Amino acid sequence: MQRDRNPSFPGPTTPPTGRFGRREFLQRSALLAAGFAVPSSLVAACGDSGGGGAVPESFDPSRPWWLQNDFAPVEDEMDAFDLKVRGRIPSVLDGLYVRNGSNPQKADSPHWFFGDGMVHGVRIADGRALWYRNRWINTILYEKGISFGDPNTPPVGGANQSNVSTIWHGGKLLTSGEVGFPYELDPSDLSTKGVYDFGGALKTSFTAHPKIDPVTGSLHFFGYWFFDPFLTYSVADRSGRVVSSEAVDVRQTTMMHSFAITDRDAVFWECPVLFSLEEAMAGALNPFHWDPSYGTRVGIMPLGGSTSDIRWVEIENCYVFHELNAYRDGNEVVVDVCRHPEMFAGEGLEDSEGDLRRWRIDTSGSSMRFRDEIVTTAPYELPHPDRRFTGRRHRYGWFSTTRPNDQTVDFGGTGYVDYETGKVSLWDPGSTRHAGEPFFVPGGAAEGDGWLLTFVYDHSNGKSTLAILPALDPNGGPVAEIELPRRVPYGFHGVWIPGGGA
Ligand SMILES: [Fe+2]
Repeated sequence: MQRDRNPSFPGPTTPPTGRFGRREFLQRSALLAAGFAVPSSLVAACGDSGGGGAVPESFDPSRPWWLQNDFAPVEDEMDAFDLKVRGRIPSVLDGLYVRNGSNPQKADSPHWFFGDGMVHGVRIADGRALWYRNRWINTILYEKGISFGDPNTPPVGGANQSNVSTIWHGGKLLTSGEVGFPYELDPSDLSTKGVYDFGGALKTSFTAHPKIDPVTGSLHFFGYWFFDPFLTYSVADRSGRVVSSEAVDVRQTTMMHSFAITDRDAVFWECPVLFSLEEAMAGALNPFHWDPSYGTRVGIMPLGGSTSDIRWVEIENCYVFHELNAYRDGNEVVVDVCRHPEMFAGEGLEDSEGDLRRWRIDTSGSSMRFRDEIVTTAPYELPHPDRRFTGRRHRYGWFSTTRPNDQTVDFGGTGYVDYETGKVSLWDPGSTRHAGEPFFVPGGAAEGDGWLLTFVYDHSNGKSTLAILPALDPNGGPVAEIELPRRVPYGFHGVWIPGGGA
C-alpha cells in the first residue's frame, strides 16, 4: 500500500497535495502529533448528528483543506478586553478557559495536525468577559521556525508543537502534544514560560490526556515512546512532584492516546495501531498502521502500581482514542469509551463506523473477564465528563459531533448522553454554525450542575463566539455567547482554570 511521507520524523519529506477527499482525511486522522481524530463514524451520516438543515461550507479542492474555512490558521496574536456578550454570563463563572490547537505560524503546515500550538483564552468573572487572548506556544520548533519532524531536530524533549491539550495542575498551566515534554504557560497573559519536565523527573514522554484524581489531587500520566521503555506510567502529587514512575512492559510502540483511572485503578488499552520505526525513518507520513495480528487488550493495575501489578484481558480488536470516564462497580471496572472497529486500516476505513461503548472488566477471578455494550451509535467523539467525578461513577457525558459531508470535516453541535436513562440528545448550533469540544465547568455541587463552554464558528460571517450552555439542558441553547474579536480556528482540547490562575 502506498504511504505518504511523514514530516514528523527525520528524512526527506514531500508535503501531500492540497486535494482533500474524505478517505484522505480519514487515513491521516489522528496522526501521532494530533490528539483528535475524525474517524469515519463522524463523517458518515448516522444517528443524531444534527445535520438536518445544515448549510455546507464552500470548499476549494485546489488548496489544502487545513488552510481553508475554520481550519485555517490565524496570522497574529491579539488582546481584546471587555468583550460584548449576548445573553447573561452566569455569575458563578470565575475563571479562564484556555483551548489548544494547531496554528502554523507560516500557514504552510503539511497537515492540520503538524501546526504550531496556539492557545485561545477567555477570562470570565462577575458576569463579564474580561479579556480574550491568543498566543502561540513558543516551543523549540516555533522559535526555530521549523516544522515538526525537522531532520535535524528529532522529536525528543521539547521538540514538539505542544498543540493538543491544556492541563491545569499544581498551580501550573501546561500544554501537551501527543509525545515529548509539555510546556508551561503563564495564565495571566498566556505567554510561554518554557519546557516543563517536572523538575527533571520526566524522561521519555507525556500524554496529552493525563488524569487528575479529584480526591487526592494527584496527576496520573503515561507516556509512550519509540524506544524501550515503550510505555511509562507516573504519578505526581497535588503539588506536581513526581512520586513514582514505572516502565510498563509492552511488546511494541502502539499509539496510546489516552487512558483512565478509577479511585483505585489505572486502566490502559493497547490497540493494534503499531509504530514502524523503519517507515518513520523512511519518511512515511503516518508510520502507525493497523495490524490486527497484534491484538487488543485492556490492562488494569493499582493506582501508582508497577508493571508486575498489571493484569491484561484480551478483547475484540478495536481502537479507542478517548474515554469519557472510568469507575469501580464492585468487582468490575467500568469504562465508557468512543470505540472504533479499526483505525489506519487503509482501504475500507471509511466504512468503519464507531460508537459509544461501555466496557465492563470483572477483576474478581484469576483471569479478568470482559464484556461491553453499545450505548449509542450516534457520531459522538471528544468526550467530556464532569471532572469532579473522574474515576468515580458518573451519569453524564458531553461530546462533539459532526455533520455528514463528503468534502470536508463538518463540525456540528454538542452531544449529550444521560447514561442512567439512556437518553441521547444534541444541541445544534444552527445551519451555518459549528461547535467544538464542550468543556464542563461546575456551577453547583451535583454532577452535571454547571455549564458547558465551547467555541462556535459561523461560516456565514467568519466570526466566532464562546457559547455557554446549561450542561443538563444543552438542547435549549446557550444562556450567553461571548463575541470574540476574531475567528477562532477549530482546535483540540481545553481546560478551565478557576479564578484565572494568575
Ligand atoms: Fe485527544
